[in-house]
Amino acid sequence: MNVLGIESSCDETGVALVSSTGSGVPRLRAHALHSQVQMHEAFGGVVPELASRDHIRRVLPLAREVLAQAGCSLQQVDVVAFTRGPGLAGALLVGAGVACGLAAALDVPTLGVHHLEGHLLSPFLSVDPPEFPFVALLVSGGHTQLMRVEAVGRYELLGESIDDAAGEAFDKSAKLLGLGYPGGPALSRLAEQGRADAFALPRPLLHSGNLDFSFAGLKTAVLTQHRRLGPQPTPQQVADLAASTQAAIVEVLVKKSLNALKTTGLKRLVVSGGVGANAELRRQLDAAAKKRGLRVHYPELELCTDNGAMIALAAAMRLQAGAAQASKDYAFDVRPRWPLAEIT
Ligand code: KG4
Ligand code: ZN
Repeated sequence: MNVLGIESSCDETGVALVSSTGSGVPRLRAHALHSQVQMHEAFGGVVPELASRDHIRRVLPLAREVLAQAGCSLQQVDVVAFTRGPGLAGALLVGAGVACGLAAALDVPTLGVHHLEGHLLSPFLSVDPPEFPFVALLVSGGHTQLMRVEAVGRYELLGESIDDAAGEAFDKSAKLLGLGYPGGPALSRLAEQGRADAFALPRPLLHSGNLDFSFAGLKTAVLTQHRRLGPQPTPQQVADLAASTQAAIVEVLVKKSLNALKTTGLKRLVVSGGVGANAELRRQLDAAAKKRGLRVHYPELELCTDNGAMIALAAAMRLQAGAAQASKDYAFDVRPRWPLAEIT
């Protein structure tokens, strides 16, 4: 079965083709991505209307590119999948509309996919795919969640952020340090040159006894420390503050993930979402796992942030597992707010 997947929930247009046979992990045949980061950079964040218009421009050329790369004709596409939510309503509608229009023209069914399920399953496309069950740490720009994953479609929320997401904490702190948008990768690059213990920053909810997170207070602490440095901090001071910020976020993520493994008795952790690309997070999780005899799985670096491959994969895996049925009812809708626990 050939599944064409379209991602358009935020500021990346992604298209991919995966093929599944039997019960094996579906194979990624080709994927293509257009990032709008440069376009939104001037505004310091994503402008939803511009995002939607750019998705319209990019999605069909990307689909053509993917089919050509995979050597697959439109007639060989069996299902068209799209991100149904969560995300920006207008941006989601572009992907959903194109997917349903294309599917109707081809007389094939469509399937709307949950964006976070895409992230969560994306490590199955890596060279070291996980096995069920596992604990998932989902760390993106909009979400920070720990989940117990029993099988495709069987997700139990163990804890989540009560305010900002980890990616947001990276982005907002980076903005305060003058590192632009989205600041996560820039902050983590700068942190390589700084001392992580230079500034004492809070580790919110570290000892809360539950698996929830809170990152909103961190940006205030970063702002306070940054102000204390005066109007012209030295590059080393900024690097130290970046390293200290990263250390605070990473310590909480690592500690809570280990607690989640302990609580559930599971030995396998799967990390996904944009912040999963963070090198320090990977270093610390790998070190902790080695010490405790645990396994950690990550998506390939290029599939950590938003992409079409994870959407095509999630659709193919849901269909394979009988967790969803693709439909020829082309009256689509999108769900800008959609808790993962609510998918059926
Ligand atoms: O999963 P994603 O692409 O989009 C959402 O679904 O939100 O995640 C984007 C987030 C941004 O906040 C970005 O700053 C962060 O992931 N990010 C990183 C790194 N790469 C991306 N944060 C820290 N270190 C990185 N290397
Ligand atoms: Zn995402």
